[in-house]
Amino acid sequence: MKNILKQFAKNGLTLKNHIVMAPMTRNRAIGNVPNDLMAEYYAQRADAGLIITEGTAPAPEGLGYARIPGIFNQEQIEGWRKTTDAVHKKGAKIFLQLMHTGRIGHHDNLAEGVQLIGASAKKAAGQIFTDTKLMQDHPEPIALSSEGIQLAIQGFVQAAVNAVEAGFDGIELHGANGYLLEQFLNPHVNDRTDEYGGNIVNRARFIVETVQKVASAIGKEKVGIRFSPYSTYGDLQAYDSNEVHETYEYLSSELNKIGIAYIHISANPDIPEKTFTTIRHNFSNTIILCNGLTPETADEKLSEGFADLVAFGRGFLANPDFVKRIELNAEFNQPDYQTFYSPDAKGYTDYATVA
Ligand SMILES: Cc1cc2nc3c(=O)[nH]c(=O)nc-3n(C[C@H](O)[C@H](O)[C@H](O)COP(=O)(O)O)c2cc1C
Repeated sequence: MKNILKQFAKNGLTLKNHIVMAPMTRNRAIGNVPNDLMAEYYAQRADAGLIITEGTAPAPEGLGYARIPGIFNQEQIEGWRKTTDAVHKKGAKIFLQLMHTGRIGHHDNLAEGVQLIGASAKKAAGQIFTDTKLMQDHPEPIALSSEGIQLAIQGFVQAAVNAVEAGFDGIELHGANGYLLEQFLNPHVNDRTDEYGGNIVNRARFIVETVQKVASAIGKEKVGIRFSPYSTYGDLQAYDSNEVHETYEYLSSELNKIGIAYIHISANPDIPEKTFTTIRHNFSNTIILCNGLTPETADEKLSEGFADLVAFGRGFLANPDFVKRIELNAEFNQPDYQTFYSPDAKGYTDYATVA
């Protein structure tokens, strides 16, 4: 049997297999509230050992994209409960990805009076989709004040508490792909002169404090984080490669001290081997590896020893019975890119399963 299909157990995290469904924004949360259709979608994919949900806003300022869910009010908590119940009935675990979009967003996607915020007042190049005016330039965000930083951290803490109330087994902080947490790490986006900017330790402080406070509120075993070292997604300009390496060297060691459940790496070809090795050396708990894996390469990655678990995105998107297809060596459906972010069931819950 393939390693990925075997049960997983490490430091109290037990899963029915080594296969993780990667977080994927699908924009079906009309009014930013999780609904029955989303519960059906996740339940269809609950053959995974662990599901990580789509990016979910911890606070109204984090709703940069149209129709993404939140976890900051009671209606959203109750909406998510339908998903966690449905997934648990099928024996999978489920973590909620907390995604604060930061400077990536638009006022047309935010509630009236809610500001677009960032580490600094540096606007992202490029455009973003809005339901009302279609593609729009990213506006300039407002730089968080010292008090604003504390409120943002508190937002993550409350969101994590809400996630536990909604029945999630834990939360994943989205520290990847150019959203707020990663915006703090990048010296081209973060030009703060206070203790949250200016050097590696200061730029990492927002993440470390958020992890510490979330872990002490809900338990370190319920906290994971996603990183995408060396990625420039979200108009993050590349910075000195030694500094990038040292940033993740520092973070992996700090997060190991806190003792969180996992680090999830969204890999890309620019990550040097030494960064993988350093993260593995520094962080003893679970590491999840994602991006471009096939069941075969994922199996190899598990044997090589960097990854404890492997995650798949588009495979799960297009194949509700992804795990069964691996077991049967069946062919996979191909994803329909046109319906990734559309508002309804088409291209969402209607992918075929094997007979
Ligand atoms: C439609 C879509 C939405 C995504 N949304 C998110 C997201 O909300 N959070 C995140 O961390 N990654 C997101 N990703 C990235 C995936 O988690 C994953 O890293 C990527 O699909 C590569 O893995 P794959 O080759 O197995 O598809 C998204 C990917 C896709 C295809």
